[in-house]
Amino acid sequence: MAPIGFLAITGAVMSFSIANALHTPKIRARVHDDPKSLRESYDYVIVGGGTAGLTVGDRLSEDGKSTVLVIENGEFSNSHHINWVRDRITWYAEPWWLYNLTSVPNKELHGQRSTVWAASVVGGSSALNGMQCVRGTRDDYNRWGSFFGPNSTWSWDGILPYFKRGLHFQSPPKTAVEHMPGLKYDESYWDTESRVYGGWPSYQWPGIKYHFEVFSGLPGVDIPEDSGAGKAGVFWYPTFMDAEGTVNRSYSRTGHWDGLNRDNYELIPHAKVAKIELDGNKATGVVFRSSILDGDETEPTGVKVNKEVILSAGTVHSPQLLQLSGIGPRQLLESAGIETKIELPGVGQSFHDHTTLFYEIKFKNYSIHPNRRDDMGDPKFIAWADELWNTNRTGPWSRGYFNTAAWLGLPVIAPDAYESIAAKVEAQNAADYLPGGTDPTVIAGYQARLARLAKAIRSKDDIFYNINFSGDEPVNYFTYEHPLSLGTININVSSPESEPVIDFRTYSNPVDFDILVELARFHRRMNVESPLLAQFEPVETSPGANVTSREDWVAYIRKNTDPTAKHPVGSCAMMPLELGGVVDEQLRVYGVEGLRVVDASVMNIIIGANTAGAVFAIAEKAADIIRDGEA
Ligand SMILES: Cc1cc2nc3c(=O)[nH]c(=O)nc-3n(C[C@H](O)[C@H](O)[C@H](O)COP(=O)(O)OP(=O)(O)OC[C@H]3O[C@@H](n4cnc5c(N)ncnc54)[C@H](O)[C@@H]3O)c2cc1C
Ligand SMILES: *[C@@H]1O[C@H](CO)[C@@H](O)[C@H](O)[C@H]1NC(C)=O
Ligand SMILES: *[C@@H]1O[C@H](CO)[C@@H](O)[C@H](O)[C@H]1NC(C)=O
Ligand SMILES: *[C@@H]1O[C@H](CO)[C@@H](O)[C@H](O)[C@H]1NC(C)=O
Ligand SMILES: *[C@@H]1O[C@H](CO)[C@@H](O)[C@H](O)[C@H]1NC(C)=O
Ligand SMILES: *[C@@H]1O[C@H](CO)[C@@H](O)[C@H](O)[C@H]1NC(C)=O
Ligand SMILES: *[C@@H]1O[C@H](CO)[C@@H](O)[C@H](O)[C@H]1NC(C)=O
Ligand SMILES: *[C@@H]1O[C@H](CO)[C@@H](O)[C@H](O)[C@H]1NC(C)=O
Ligand SMILES: *[C@@H]1O[C@H](CO)[C@@H](O)[C@H](O)[C@H]1NC(C)=O
Repeated sequence: MAPIGFLAITGAVMSFSIANALHTPKIRARVHDDPKSLRESYDYVIVGGGTAGLTVGDRLSEDGKSTVLVIENGEFSNSHHINWVRDRITWYAEPWWLYNLTSVPNKELHGQRSTVWAASVVGGSSALNGMQCVRGTRDDYNRWGSFFGPNSTWSWDGILPYFKRGLHFQSPPKTAVEHMPGLKYDESYWDTESRVYGGWPSYQWPGIKYHFEVFSGLPGVDIPEDSGAGKAGVFWYPTFMDAEGTVNRSYSRTGHWDGLNRDNYELIPHAKVAKIELDGNKATGVVFRSSILDGDETEPTGVKVNKEVILSAGTVHSPQLLQLSGIGPRQLLESAGIETKIELPGVGQSFHDHTTLFYEIKFKNYSIHPNRRDDMGDPKFIAWADELWNTNRTGPWSRGYFNTAAWLGLPVIAPDAYESIAAKVEAQNAADYLPGGTDPTVIAGYQARLARLAKAIRSKDDIFYNINFSGDEPVNYFTYEHPLSLGTININVSSPESEPVIDFRTYSNPVDFDILVELARFHRRMNVESPLLAQFEPVETSPGANVTSREDWVAYIRKNTDPTAKHPVGSCAMMPLELGGVVDEQLRVYGVEGLRVVDASVMNIIIGANTAGAVFAIAEKAADIIRDGEA
């Protein structure tokens, strides 16, 4: 697999002890350590205490009356490896905070298997992610609703209030504004009610401004009034951190669990849900196994639900749990020996993610800047950064990953090629690019997606290319934000309860190669051939200047792709049933009463942005839908 850049950075951050990783939670009895202490039934049972799960749990228990239980597989952790934003630079995580997921060999990538990232800890992936707080464009959200007709509330206007409700915005400090004079923000796109914070680091890497100049100077590239305005272009955006307070990560647990201490809001960590109980077509409860007491999984425990089960186990495990419960494609369930209770062909299909391409550029002469990201291994740098952090909670250790980037559409990137690419997509027959035996409704759903993606290819407001401004050399990869290919997540028929079979099916739609070749050529023009960067003497070390023909590019792409940008979505898509959908506009699982899915898996087409912000917004909207019947 291509070595992705952030893994290469070591140094000071790795030397911290992991001794305090396991802490007894200070929260009172609302965190259960014995399944026997649970009530017999709850109004709402939420499967998965992750990004969406805790957000929904908070909102549904706000009335002080509705009883809510969250069941989470992972531990309750107070480790600084989660709280400190500096730890994102190394992506440090204890092994038990991540599922051990590997995709099946990818046919178009010479059989490469890839790591699939999903967190197992209270807070879910929001506890371990890169803290990038980005929204995507208006088209991204209007497209979600477009499958349901013109009046759907899944639209930019329909979701903006929930983006506002989902984050407490902290404006950039003066130091940041002074460093980046061209960038803008507009507080009218934000609010300050949530306890999930988004703020700016006080320190910016010195070189960010050069990249900013290169990209913002390109014809057709806008600098939107705010990162949350729903527009493509070059912008800076918040980091999920409490910049004005703790200077720690802010995530679903700090925002939607800690400090609430409500008698009607309970959590059981170290508890793995095995299936949802159905009585006819009604969800009546769940069965889980707890490993708190002796470390080994105990006898299964059942808990009953008065109103609804809410599945928030994430893109990998929500479809698995539906399938294990007898809700899914009939043939798959039959081969696994599971009785089909509700035949729902779309479950686990239509899975996708952003695609990452490894691309290495070195600056031969970057000596004019001290204290850049590349210096992080230097003892002098470390001493300086430590001092700033220890005295003031400022400096490089107060920042997370990136917070400025270019997000661009194909008309800007490939003005001569985008039209023919769009026409090619429009002419495609969806069935040709899905696994044999795919249900006709799922095929119809893919055809409908392709029509919308063709339109997106023609729009400069739909993002296809993303590069983060790292502050020194260009980051050694870029992402492809709207890949056409669809994958699958299915239970392992010979061992249904072990991890599911994850098949990215990267580049199964060959037009993805056409688009990536354009993106890669653009990346070279911007980062290697730009006159503004010439002073740093850029050298492309991978693929190298000799790769120019389409054929050589495709060969390079096949060997240097990571099929994920850690943003898996789509496996329980919100789509009409006749288009292979799993949930309707109210996020109810088709054919089942009292069961919804609320997490990243419901996105029918991925957004042109990192996904956590949208998951918070989906969860906020879902809570209104659940309480009021609509939103
Ligand atoms: C390493 C990494 C980096 C990322 N970087 C960014 C970023 O910088 N910015 C951004 O916007 N997005 C980022 N993302 C993506 C974003 O964090 C996710 O899209 C989002 O958090 C997903 O939320 P979710 O609620 O769908 O799932 P999760 O937050 O993953 O929650 C699912 C929860 O369900 C639990 N669960 C699963 N199965 C069971 C079961 N059987 N029983 C009980 N519990 C179960 C899991 O343990 C987990 O806690 C990143 C993701 C990862 C993993
Ligand atoms: C911030 O995180 C650190 C490391 O885990 C923790 O010790 C500290 O208490 C946190 N700060 C606050 C105010 O929560
Ligand atoms: C993944 O594997 C590691 C190492 O074997 C283990 O410690 C961890 O618990 C596993 N993760 C999960 C979520 O089961
Ligand atoms: C959408 O709403 C408008 C105005 O209320 C209404 O006239 C129209 O019939 C609706 N369209 C559909 C498809 O429901
Ligand atoms: C590096 O660039 C600076 C500024 O452009 C220049 O003064 C210096 O001579 C260059 N150093 C080398 C080794 O080329
Ligand atoms: C801490 O912050 C204050 C106010 O911004 C500044 O004057 C001081 O120099 C800082 N201390 C260090 C060690 O940077
Ligand atoms: C930007 O950084 C985030 C991690 O924080 C990552 O998910 C995303 O893929 C990155 N994009 C690029 C183009 O580097
Ligand atoms: C499915 O389960 C079997 C039995 O545990 C195992 O040998 C096999 O590797 C699994 N398949 C996949 C794709 O994980
Ligand atoms: C380009 O040059 C490198 C280094 O000499 C070589 O390894 C590679 O095979 C070449 N690639 C092509 C497509 O010619």
